[in-house]
Amino acid sequence: MESRQLFDPESSTYSYLVWDSESYEAALIDPVEDQVDRDIGLVRELNLKLKYTLETHIHTDHVTGSGALREALHSIVLVHENTRTKCADVLIKGGDFIPLGTSRINVLYTPGHTEGDVCYRIPGAVFTGDTLLIRDCGRTDFQSGDAGALYDSITRHLFTLPDDTIIYPGHDDQGRSFSTILEEKLHNPRIGNNKSRNEFIEIMNSLKLDPPHRIHESLPNNLRCGTHGFELAGSAHY
Ligand SMILES: [Fe+2]
Repeated sequence: MESRQLFDPESSTYSYLVWDSESYEAALIDPVEDQVDRDIGLVRELNLKLKYTLETHIHTDHVTGSGALREALHSIVLVHENTRTKCADVLIKGGDFIPLGTSRINVLYTPGHTEGDVCYRIPGAVFTGDTLLIRDCGRTDFQSGDAGALYDSITRHLFTLPDDTIIYPGHDDQGRSFSTILEEKLHNPRIGNNKSRNEFIEIMNSLKLDPPHRIHESLPNNLRCGTHGFELAGSAHY
Protein backbone atom coordinates (compact mmCIF):
# COMPACT_ATOMS: atom_id res chain seq x y z
CA MET A 1 0.00 0.00 0.00
CA GLU A 2 1.07 3.56 -0.56
CA SER A 3 0.06 6.77 1.15
CA ARG A 4 0.45 10.48 0.71
CA GLN A 5 0.17 13.13 3.42
CA LEU A 6 -1.76 16.30 2.53
CA PHE A 7 -2.02 19.48 4.61
CA ASP A 8 -4.62 22.19 5.14
CA PRO A 9 -2.75 25.23 6.52
CA GLU A 10 -5.91 27.02 7.72
CA SER A 11 -6.80 24.27 10.23
CA SER A 12 -3.40 22.47 10.44
CA THR A 13 -5.27 19.33 9.39
CA TYR A 14 -3.56 16.39 7.74
CA SER A 15 -5.52 14.33 5.23
CA TYR A 16 -4.11 11.07 3.91
CA LEU A 17 -4.59 9.48 0.54
CA VAL A 18 -4.04 5.72 0.87
CA TRP A 19 -4.08 3.32 -2.04
CA ASP A 20 -3.49 -0.24 -3.10
CA SER A 21 -0.49 -0.32 -5.45
CA GLU A 22 -1.97 -3.00 -7.71
CA SER A 23 -5.63 -2.07 -8.12
CA TYR A 24 -5.17 1.69 -7.60
CA GLU A 25 -8.24 1.66 -5.36
CA ALA A 26 -7.91 4.50 -2.86
CA ALA A 27 -9.30 5.96 0.37
CA LEU A 28 -8.95 9.54 1.59
CA ILE A 29 -8.76 9.89 5.37
CA ASP A 30 -10.14 13.14 6.86
CA PRO A 31 -10.64 15.18 3.68
CA VAL A 32 -11.04 18.96 4.11
CA GLU A 33 -13.75 20.67 2.09
CA ASP A 34 -11.54 23.69 1.29
CA GLN A 35 -9.00 21.31 -0.31
CA VAL A 36 -11.35 19.17 -2.39
CA ASP A 37 -10.21 20.58 -5.75
CA ARG A 38 -6.57 19.82 -4.87
CA ASP A 39 -7.48 16.31 -3.77
CA ILE A 40 -9.55 15.53 -6.87
CA GLY A 41 -6.63 16.74 -9.00
CA LEU A 42 -4.20 14.44 -7.21
CA VAL A 43 -6.53 11.43 -7.43
CA ARG A 44 -6.81 11.98 -11.18
CA GLU A 45 -3.09 12.57 -11.73
CA LEU A 46 -2.20 9.36 -9.89
CA ASN A 47 -4.86 7.46 -11.82
CA LEU A 48 -6.57 6.35 -8.63
CA LYS A 49 -10.15 5.26 -8.08
CA LEU A 50 -11.36 6.94 -4.89
CA LYS A 51 -13.57 4.30 -3.29
CA TYR A 52 -13.95 5.76 0.20
CA THR A 53 -13.61 8.81 2.36
CA LEU A 54 -12.86 7.81 5.96
CA GLU A 55 -13.42 10.08 8.95
CA THR A 56 -11.40 9.52 12.10
CA HIS A 57 -14.18 11.38 13.99
CA ILE A 58 -16.54 14.34 13.69
CA HIS A 59 -14.25 17.36 13.46
CA THR A 60 -14.76 20.79 14.97
CA ASP A 61 -11.92 22.64 13.29
CA HIS A 62 -12.66 22.15 9.60
CA VAL A 63 -15.53 21.14 7.37
CA THR A 64 -15.19 17.68 5.89
CA GLY A 65 -14.83 17.21 2.14
CA SER A 66 -16.59 13.84 2.22
CA GLY A 67 -19.89 15.07 0.78
CA ALA A 68 -18.21 17.07 -2.00
CA LEU A 69 -16.00 14.10 -2.93
CA ARG A 70 -19.01 11.78 -2.96
CA GLU A 71 -20.69 14.18 -5.36
CA ALA A 72 -17.65 14.52 -7.63
CA LEU A 73 -16.10 11.04 -7.55
CA HIS A 74 -18.89 8.81 -6.17
CA SER A 75 -16.80 7.78 -3.19
CA ILE A 76 -18.53 6.16 -0.22
CA VAL A 77 -18.58 7.99 3.14
CA LEU A 78 -17.52 5.89 6.17
CA VAL A 79 -17.71 7.03 9.80
CA HIS A 80 -17.98 5.24 13.15
CA GLU A 81 -21.46 4.19 14.20
CA ASN A 82 -21.31 6.30 17.40
CA THR A 83 -20.95 9.60 15.56
CA ARG A 84 -24.71 10.05 15.07
CA THR A 85 -24.26 11.32 11.53
CA LYS A 86 -27.13 10.76 9.16
CA CYS A 87 -25.11 11.26 5.99
CA ALA A 88 -22.72 8.28 6.00
CA ASP A 89 -23.11 5.51 3.46
CA VAL A 90 -21.51 2.95 5.78
CA LEU A 91 -21.19 2.97 9.59
CA ILE A 92 -18.08 1.22 10.85
CA LYS A 93 -16.95 -0.24 14.17
CA GLY A 94 -13.73 -1.52 15.70
CA GLY A 95 -12.46 -4.72 14.10
CA ASP A 96 -13.88 -3.94 10.66
CA PHE A 97 -11.65 -4.24 7.60
CA ILE A 98 -12.01 -1.87 4.67
CA PRO A 99 -10.93 -3.58 1.43
CA LEU A 100 -8.81 -1.78 -1.17
CA GLY A 101 -8.08 -4.26 -3.95
CA THR A 102 -6.31 -7.12 -2.21
CA SER A 103 -5.16 -4.82 0.64
CA ARG A 104 -7.12 -3.95 3.76
CA ILE A 105 -7.40 -1.06 6.18
CA ASN A 106 -8.01 -2.20 9.76
CA VAL A 107 -10.40 -0.13 11.92
CA LEU A 108 -9.44 0.40 15.59
CA TYR A 109 -12.13 1.91 17.81
CA THR A 110 -10.40 4.48 20.04
CA PRO A 111 -12.95 6.63 21.92
CA GLY A 112 -11.95 9.35 24.37
CA HIS A 113 -11.42 12.52 22.32
CA THR A 114 -15.01 11.94 21.17
CA GLU A 115 -17.21 8.87 21.47
CA GLY A 116 -16.87 8.14 17.75
CA ASP A 117 -13.10 8.12 17.18
CA VAL A 118 -11.35 5.48 15.16
CA CYS A 119 -7.77 4.96 14.00
CA TYR A 120 -7.02 3.31 10.66
CA ARG A 121 -4.17 0.83 10.45
CA ILE A 122 -2.26 -0.30 7.38
CA PRO A 123 0.92 -2.41 7.36
CA GLY A 124 3.63 -0.44 9.21
CA ALA A 125 1.55 2.65 9.97
CA VAL A 126 -1.52 3.93 11.80
CA PHE A 127 -3.57 7.04 11.06
CA THR A 128 -4.50 8.30 14.50
CA GLY A 129 -6.75 11.33 13.90
CA ASP A 130 -6.87 13.28 17.18
CA THR A 131 -6.58 10.19 19.39
CA LEU A 132 -2.78 10.48 19.47
CA LEU A 133 -0.92 13.49 18.12
CA ILE A 134 2.82 14.15 18.01
CA ARG A 135 3.79 14.78 21.68
CA ASP A 136 0.12 15.56 22.27
CA CYS A 137 -3.39 14.12 22.08
CA GLY A 138 -6.90 15.34 21.34
CA ARG A 139 -8.81 17.26 24.02
CA THR A 140 -11.43 15.45 26.07
CA ASP A 141 -13.55 18.32 27.38
CA PHE A 142 -16.43 18.28 24.89
CA GLN A 143 -18.14 16.10 22.22
CA SER A 144 -18.66 13.41 24.91
CA GLY A 145 -14.90 13.31 25.50
CA ASP A 146 -13.59 11.12 28.33
CA ALA A 147 -9.97 11.26 29.49
CA GLY A 148 -10.06 7.78 31.06
CA ALA A 149 -11.43 6.29 27.84
CA LEU A 150 -8.73 8.06 25.83
CA TYR A 151 -6.02 6.64 28.11
CA ASP A 152 -7.45 3.15 27.62
CA SER A 153 -7.67 3.61 23.85
CA ILE A 154 -4.07 4.79 23.50
CA THR A 155 -2.50 2.28 25.88
CA ARG A 156 -4.52 -0.75 24.74
CA HIS A 157 -4.89 -0.16 21.00
CA LEU A 158 -1.91 2.03 19.98
CA PHE A 159 0.92 1.44 22.46
CA THR A 160 0.50 -2.31 21.90
CA LEU A 161 1.41 -1.93 18.21
CA PRO A 162 5.03 -2.62 17.17
CA ASP A 163 7.33 0.19 18.35
CA ASP A 164 8.42 1.10 14.83
CA THR A 165 4.83 1.63 13.61
CA ILE A 166 4.60 5.08 12.04
CA ILE A 167 2.00 7.41 13.54
CA TYR A 168 0.33 9.75 11.06
CA PRO A 169 -1.61 12.28 13.14
CA GLY A 170 -4.73 14.27 12.28
CA HIS A 171 -3.04 17.60 12.98
CA ASP A 172 0.22 19.28 13.72
CA ASP A 173 0.71 23.03 14.05
CA GLN A 174 4.47 22.83 14.56
CA GLY A 175 5.52 21.45 11.20
CA ARG A 176 6.08 17.85 12.29
CA SER A 177 4.75 15.27 9.87
CA PHE A 178 4.86 11.91 11.64
CA SER A 179 6.10 10.04 14.68
CA THR A 180 6.39 6.43 15.85
CA ILE A 181 4.80 4.41 18.63
CA LEU A 182 8.14 4.21 20.44
CA GLU A 183 8.72 7.98 20.25
CA GLU A 184 5.33 8.70 21.78
CA LYS A 185 5.72 6.01 24.43
CA LEU A 186 8.97 7.71 25.47
CA HIS A 187 8.35 11.39 24.88
CA ASN A 188 4.64 12.20 24.82
CA PRO A 189 4.33 14.57 27.80
CA ARG A 190 0.71 13.63 28.51
CA ILE A 191 0.78 9.85 28.32
CA GLY A 192 4.37 8.78 27.59
CA ASN A 193 6.97 7.57 30.05
CA ASN A 194 4.49 5.12 31.65
CA LYS A 195 2.09 7.78 32.96
CA SER A 196 -0.67 6.25 35.06
CA ARG A 197 -4.35 6.52 34.12
CA ASN A 198 -4.94 8.92 37.02
CA GLU A 199 -1.98 11.13 36.09
CA PHE A 200 -3.29 11.34 32.54
CA ILE A 201 -6.84 12.20 33.68
CA GLU A 202 -5.45 14.91 35.96
CA ILE A 203 -3.41 16.44 33.11
CA MET A 204 -6.38 16.39 30.72
CA ASN A 205 -8.80 17.83 33.27
CA SER A 206 -6.46 20.69 34.13
CA LEU A 207 -6.15 21.96 30.53
CA LYS A 208 -7.85 25.30 30.00
CA LEU A 209 -8.60 25.36 26.30
CA ASP A 210 -10.60 27.81 24.20
CA PRO A 211 -13.27 26.31 21.95
CA PRO A 212 -12.09 25.67 18.37
CA HIS A 213 -12.82 28.86 16.44
CA ARG A 214 -14.71 27.13 13.62
CA ILE A 215 -16.83 24.87 15.82
CA HIS A 216 -20.16 26.60 15.11
CA GLU A 217 -19.67 26.21 11.39
CA SER A 218 -17.93 22.86 11.29
CA LEU A 219 -19.92 20.72 13.74
CA PRO A 220 -23.40 21.02 12.15
CA ASN A 221 -21.89 20.78 8.66
CA ASN A 222 -19.86 17.70 9.54
CA LEU A 223 -22.92 15.89 10.86
CA ARG A 224 -24.25 16.15 7.31
CA CYS A 225 -20.89 15.38 5.59
CA GLY A 226 -20.04 18.99 4.69
CA THR A 227 -21.93 21.75 2.91
CA HIS A 228 -22.32 19.42 -0.09
CA GLY A 229 -23.66 16.67 2.13
CA PHE A 230 -27.16 15.38 2.64
CA GLU A 231 -28.96 13.09 5.02
CA LEU A 232 -29.69 9.53 3.97
CA ALA A 233 -32.69 7.47 4.99
CA GLY A 234 -30.37 4.87 6.49
CA SER A 235 -26.73 3.79 6.48
CA ALA A 236 -25.38 0.30 5.88
CA HIS A 237 -23.20 -1.52 8.40
CA TYR A 238 -20.21 -3.64 7.57
FE1 LIG B 1 -10.91 16.57 16.77
